[in-house]
Amino acid sequence: MKLILREDGPIVVPLPEGSEVRLNGHPVRLTKKNLALCRCGASGKKPFCDKSHRRVGFKAPGGVLEWDTSPPEAV
Ligand code: FES
Repeated sequence: MKLILREDGPIVVPLPEGSEVRLNGHPVRLTKKNLALCRCGASGKKPFCDKSHRRVGFKAPGGVLEWDTSPPEAV
C-alpha cells in the first residue's frame, strides 16, 4: 500500500473512482479518482482536501510512503 504526499498539498490515497470508504463508520463514495486528505489544516471539509492549501500557501515536501500489507512470515 502507498500514500502519496503531494508537494505543498494533500496526502493522496490511490483508489479507483467510485470506491467506497467509511468515515467514522459512515460510507463515503469517491466521485473522483484517489482520495485526497488535508495535511495543511485549512480545508473547509476536513478530513478531505478542498484545495485550500493553495490559498494559504501551504509548503511541505512531497514523497511516497509505502508499506507491505502482507502478514510477516513466521520465524
Ligand atoms: S491539503 Fe488541501 S486543503 Fe489542506
